[in-house]
Amino acid sequence: AVTSSTFKPLFGFASVPVSSADTVTLPPGYRYEVVYAWGDSIQGPTLGPVFKPDASNTAAEQEKQCGMHNDGMHLFPLPRHHARSQAGLLCVNHEYVDDGLLHTDGMQAWSAEKVKKSQAAHGVSVVQIAQQGQAENARWQVQPSRYARRITAATPIEVRGPAAGHALLQTAADPSGRRVLGTFNNCANGVTPWGTYLTCEENFNGYFALGDAAPSASQARYGITNKQGFGYRWHEFDTRFDASQNPNEPHRFGWVVEIDPYDPQRAPIKRTALGRFKHEGATVTLSEDKRVVVYMGDDERNEYLYKFVSRQRFTSKTRLSSHLLDEGILYVARFEADGRGEWLPLIHGLPGLTVADGFADQATILIHARMAADNVGATKLDRPEWIALHPQTGEGYVTLTNNSERGKKSPVDGPNPRAENVYGQIVRWRENQQDAAALKFDWELFVLAGDPERDSRVTVNGDAFGSPDGLAFDARGVLWIATDVSTSTLGKQAYANLGNNMLLAADPRTRETRRFLVGPRGCEITGFAFASDGRTLFVNIQHPGESPSERSDPSRPQAVSNWPDGPQGGRPRSATIAIRRVDGGLIGT
Ligand code: FEO
Ligand code: CA
Ligand code: CA
Ligand code: CA
Repeated sequence: AVTSSTFKPLFGFASVPVSSADTVTLPPGYRYEVVYAWGDSIQGPTLGPVFKPDASNTAAEQEKQCGMHNDGMHLFPLPRHHARSQAGLLCVNHEYVDDGLLHTDGMQAWSAEKVKKSQAAHGVSVVQIAQQGQAENARWQVQPSRYARRITAATPIEVRGPAAGHALLQTAADPSGRRVLGTFNNCANGVTPWGTYLTCEENFNGYFALGDAAPSASQARYGITNKQGFGYRWHEFDTRFDASQNPNEPHRFGWVVEIDPYDPQRAPIKRTALGRFKHEGATVTLSEDKRVVVYMGDDERNEYLYKFVSRQRFTSKTRLSSHLLDEGILYVARFEADGRGEWLPLIHGLPGLTVADGFADQATILIHARMAADNVGATKLDRPEWIALHPQTGEGYVTLTNNSERGKKSPVDGPNPRAENVYGQIVRWRENQQDAAALKFDWELFVLAGDPERDSRVTVNGDAFGSPDGLAFDARGVLWIATDVSTSTLGKQAYANLGNNMLLAADPRTRETRRFLVGPRGCEITGFAFASDGRTLFVNIQHPGESPSERSDPSRPQAVSNWPDGPQGGRPRSATIAIRRVDGGLIGT
């Protein structure tokens, strides 16, 4: 067995204790600054529009400001391909909004302007950031930039791949089925070897209201079942989101979207070959023969793990316009109890995927990828969230965050060993021949998360945590784990000892976990980015101060959190922070 003494330790920081304080807590010797918070101008502090703490910024202003609920992100170097740049283009997802905080009087007096502002607070930011100052005075700041842009729920986006133009994607407003307005519920992300950003549409279903219409089988399978959606109320002023009137509009969301941060004129592209589901993230690597492989989780209880393998190979000439992500095979994972696994192709005509099975063509399989996966015997997982690949071995790690329905709607099995799973686990796998394009793999449980004092099955070696979600390797091979215990679960017994949501470092060799950061009250820790020199770690603090209802009421005293602005600030703000060592050293060592 491997023991921690076998290896030079990967980390040298002191563990941060659990905390319920309304602040960001870091190990001694570390500090952070807020770089980009909801409402900050995409052109930096010297050029407006300036954030108004009473939330009175207009929809037009919000289109030029940081959106809400920062999630997945990546820092692209400037100049391009620069290995040790002190500047870069930060792409940040804005997953969803809290309308109670977004508007001065919350959801009262609902209006077309409020819908526009809500749509403008969704999507993605591209902002230029740079280090200002020297040594311990160095700060990352957003700067005026020709690259700066906001992509929102109303931005024109191109559709490519096998489902582009398909009848199921055509609407009255877009008979071509190739030009969609907007992207939203952008959760985690990915990065391609050719320097583009992938943003992933997750809980898109919640924006569509069905009214009194009965859901079709595919609408039911994707959760488009509510009269009013999840309560975003866009349909009241934007009929696109009335699924009874526009039944094809929901087919235009639930995709992976590619953005070129270096070309601000270029429209984003929805890549339909990667399938339609509630995409958490899209983690990209290359196979032995240089085909592009994208690993993707569908984050809902009892959903699947997918991978896409391109037909063409990556070369140094590959660009966004090469459209490598438009042609290839989508697979879904099956895990066997004996530690082996298989990638099952979702190809039209294979057993379960024929016209008689309800799939007219390959495009229909991609649009209804969940239903295709149901028919080939894929393994239902405990909410697959982020995926990370070890930078040296290529081993894959996936967070299975929790699943209250395990043992009820799906059987307890190998990768999902606990019924009513409140704590979650991390599963890792190794592709045959360490080739990302392999059709078979071996897997094991990396850790069963949780509080060992409350569940004897917990296998945490080191600092305890639950509901792992964000997951990323740094260049040194440290596995960073962010937690997302929902606000309603934080108050429950199982989590009584674990405090606020946190970020931990794990050593993949010894499985030791060490707590590195605890966030403010009511937040979750979402995306990561690393400066190319390894000396800054960017982290997103999402929804500080969230109430259990996930919709705040502005008339409620803001007692839960006023991070990051403090008592004078008015309302809590999701934000990107930059973490560094005071002595300028490598993060985590
Ligand atoms: Fe947006 Fe599954 O987290
Ligand atoms: Ca997540
Ligand atoms: Ca989550
Ligand atoms: Ca979240």
